[in-house]
Amino acid sequence: MSGRVVVLASGEGTNVQALLDSGLPVVVVGSDKPRARALARAEAAGAATVVNRDLARWGEILAPYKPDVVVLAGFMRILPDAFVLSHDCINVHPSLLPAFPGLRAAEQALAYGVKVTGCTVHYVDTGVDTGPIILQAAVPVRAGDTADSLHARIQVEEHRLLPEAVRLHLAGRLRKNGRHVEVI
Ligand code: GAR
Repeated sequence: MSGRVVVLASGEGTNVQALLDSGLPVVVVGSDKPRARALARAEAAGAATVVNRDLARWGEILAPYKPDVVVLAGFMRILPDAFVLSHDCINVHPSLLPAFPGLRAAEQALAYGVKVTGCTVHYVDTGVDTGPIILQAAVPVRAGDTADSLHARIQVEEHRLLPEAVRLHLAGRLRKNGRHVEVI
């Protein structure tokens, strides 16, 4: 598949791994955290890496990589509006948005008492976890679940949905119409 995928991640990087393993053309993985395991995963796969803590500089830093899409794979910072408005950005979030946006979504879902939660892959707009939804998958909450056990099952779905959404985007198979994203 052709295209240039830039990934930003802050943490463990299991979603970065899923993107790398799926054979997508990842040209660079960036992080705000020099010790993020996501960077080590990228290096092990032979992808370039970059570290930057200044959110206002991501535009100039990533420009040479000419991204067709910027994937936020557990990137826990809010990018400036100017960046979001000038790139196609895709984010993965561990809940069925619009429920439980922001941090610790699995913990929020457990505290609320929902029976079903899941994950959402969406285009990024200038809000927090508010952009047009591309794909979602449901994950049942089990008796005795902890935030960690629930999040682990949600991540199984994330690792399937995120590469699929990026593949559809690169293939030109996602048509945005306001809040609605049609797979064509
Ligand atoms: C993922 O579950 C992702 O959905 C979540 O961070 C985790 C990163 O895991 N993102 C958010 O909560 C964004 N609001 P990973 O580093 O193993 O890919």
